Amino acid sequence: MSAPRQLFVTTALPYANGTFHIGHIMEYIQADIWVRYQRMQGHAVNFVGADDAHGAPIMIAAEKAGKTPEQFVADIAAGRKQYLDGFLISFDNWHSTHSPENTAISQAIYKDLKTNGLIETRTIEQFFDPEKGMFLPDRFIKGECPNCHAKDQYGDNCEVCGAVYAPTELIEPYSALSGARPELKTSEHFFFKLSDARCIEFLREWTTSGAVQPEVLNKITEWIAPGEDGKPKMGDWDISRDAPYFGIEIPDAPGKYFYVWLDAPIGYLASLKNLFDKGAGKTASGQPQSYEQFVADPATEQYHFIGKDIITFHTLFWPAMLKFSGRKVPDKVFVHGFLTVNNGEKMSKSRGTGLDPLKYLSLKMNPEWLRYYLAAKLSGRNEDIDFNADDFMARINADLIGKYVNIASRAAGFISKKFGGRLGAISPDGDQLLTHLRDALPQITELYAERETGKVVREVMALCDRVNGYVDANKPWELAKKEGMEGRLHDVCSTCIEAFRILTIYLKPILPKLAADVAFFLMVPPESFDDVKTPLGEGAQIGEYQHLMQRVDVKQLDALFEPPAPAPQALAAMKTEAPSTTPAPGGEPLAPTITIDDFVKIDLRIAKIVNCEPVEGSTKLLRLTLDVGETSDDGQPKLRNVFSGIASAYKPDDLKGKLTVVVANLAPRKMKFGISEGMVLAASHGDEKAHPGIYVLEPTAGAQPGMRVR
Ligand code: MSP
Ligand code: ZN
Repeated sequence: MSAPRQLFVTTALPYANGTFHIGHIMEYIQADIWVRYQRMQGHAVNFVGADDAHGAPIMIAAEKAGKTPEQFVADIAAGRKQYLDGFLISFDNWHSTHSPENTAISQAIYKDLKTNGLIETRTIEQFFDPEKGMFLPDRFIKGECPNCHAKDQYGDNCEVCGAVYAPTELIEPYSALSGARPELKTSEHFFFKLSDARCIEFLREWTTSGAVQPEVLNKITEWIAPGEDGKPKMGDWDISRDAPYFGIEIPDAPGKYFYVWLDAPIGYLASLKNLFDKGAGKTASGQPQSYEQFVADPATEQYHFIGKDIITFHTLFWPAMLKFSGRKVPDKVFVHGFLTVNNGEKMSKSRGTGLDPLKYLSLKMNPEWLRYYLAAKLSGRNEDIDFNADDFMARINADLIGKYVNIASRAAGFISKKFGGRLGAISPDGDQLLTHLRDALPQITELYAERETGKVVREVMALCDRVNGYVDANKPWELAKKEGMEGRLHDVCSTCIEAFRILTIYLKPILPKLAADVAFFLMVPPESFDDVKTPLGEGAQIGEYQHLMQRVDVKQLDALFEPPAPAPQALAAMKTEAPSTTPAPGGEPLAPTITIDDFVKIDLRIAKIVNCEPVEGSTKLLRLTLDVGETSDDGQPKLRNVFSGIASAYKPDDLKGKLTVVVANLAPRKMKFGISEGMVLAASHGDEKAHPGIYVLEPTAGAQPGMRVR
């Protein structure tokens, strides 16, 4: 193993205007596998992420949600952990660009660039929305890309060709806020002089130093290579925005803020600083360092994982910002392509479609299935990949479980039942197989280093085929029945267990949880790659085999891709938008199909409304006292308290003594006025404004409290 290195690794900072979609998770899984590989090699890794909290789009989204931008991004941040833990993403820190660290570092970098003569102010004409009365953020101006002429591109960069430009360069611009044609108004802006000869020279050198993949270099060269007139295409970069803006103030420039893309990558450093300030930073020597020492240490290596849509920011602007503020530049920027789902179109930032990661988890689908599947698809190149449900099921069930997990399940039972859980001696043929497996180590670690996880998986599956060939040739299940073959059975099964141990180490960066379960089963401490070389050996005690992984059930995939029920906003839009199409029954479209199993989860009961009274302080609610046929311990009827939003339609006396239907197994909910222990069923039109009226359900005569409704 090489001497420990110290690494600083990041993934792109997700915009804090929405939850994670599967594209984000793919990026984190790719980076996490690489990071876990590095850790297994004994290196000190600081793997950090953060929310990209600033910018006008978030400010506008917060306003729409009726929240301050601070509250808005804090709410988004609070939802991150369940995804990261759920998919076993091992960030050492998660922070925010809306943080004191980021303010301090951004302002310091800016001052350093200024001292270096690379900041300039210019009065520019900028688009102003006359209907909204504000300067329009780039993302809220749309039009035709001046470079490739793709329609409906944002004002800052083109998602089709990747060009970065000023919004005023858009052809046929329009305001995405109001649809109005924007007007030009003047304002003073700050520029980072990227066209400066020093920057161009540095970038030519850095981009060709091996810091980016060849296909990425091809894409960015056009900006820095001399054009026909001998000058590169790279222009200066507008890094300021006018108030109102949610961002970091530019020092000595009241009312001016850094454009979000200036402080966003600096958020990598802010998260790193936050980690080190907590005393949790890792160094190669194991000795603590301050953030300042760590980033100034020549031994520190810096790597960024990003998607192909943000190459320009990371391979041109960001290295130049670091270089000319006197800081360390990235060692490598690793660009991946986009993930599509079931051949769907690429998921855009705002329309996360296809595969909902939380739904995946809530269906109790194994996160390691997704990790394995994506690893099998990913490479070190910038190329798109597709999640295909059939392919997913085949790779998990036939390969991961059929070829790999089965090796353990085929051998472990004999070891525990016949040999007291102890491994036996291994004969030369078994040794030969194991040597072949061990010899793959350098190749496999090399592939991990290059992010060629697809090739890792292929290689490991080929090794599994070899092991299964050995099992099929020796047929332990037959050996177990034959007289005098105990020794051979012990030998073959011990070989399989050792083979399984080696294969598990090879897959450990991809399947960390499974590897931990296997380590527990084999009674070995957490392993590094070098442990491949140290066999468990004759006489080693192993534990009882527990089933390691379930197969994918097609029902889970069907449920995963079942279209979600339309969100309330979408429902509202359908109601108002589409009078020309067939009207939905009752003013709203039918919810997606459910099975009878889904239905029986809802326990509906007949309830008698024994009392009903107004709720003081609420015009909407009535307090119902219900008899659902239950008795308490002392034999008295047990009554329930339920609040119902029906005061606009009923007076208490209208309902007293009547029977109705209640959802009896709804979790009790604490409300301002007390606890509600159920829900009374009532009908209403989807558009309550146009069709007012609420109608409480009542059974026909004879029904008794407590009867189930089915
Ligand atoms: N906030 C910026 C990044 C700032 S980094 C200093 C941003 N955020 S994002 O939420 O839109 O995207 C975050 C990352 O997810 C990017 O690397 C982006 O390429 C990646 N992906 C977004 N959609 C994706 C797929 N469909 N597939 C794979 N990665 C995708 O850009
Ligand atoms: Zn374009």
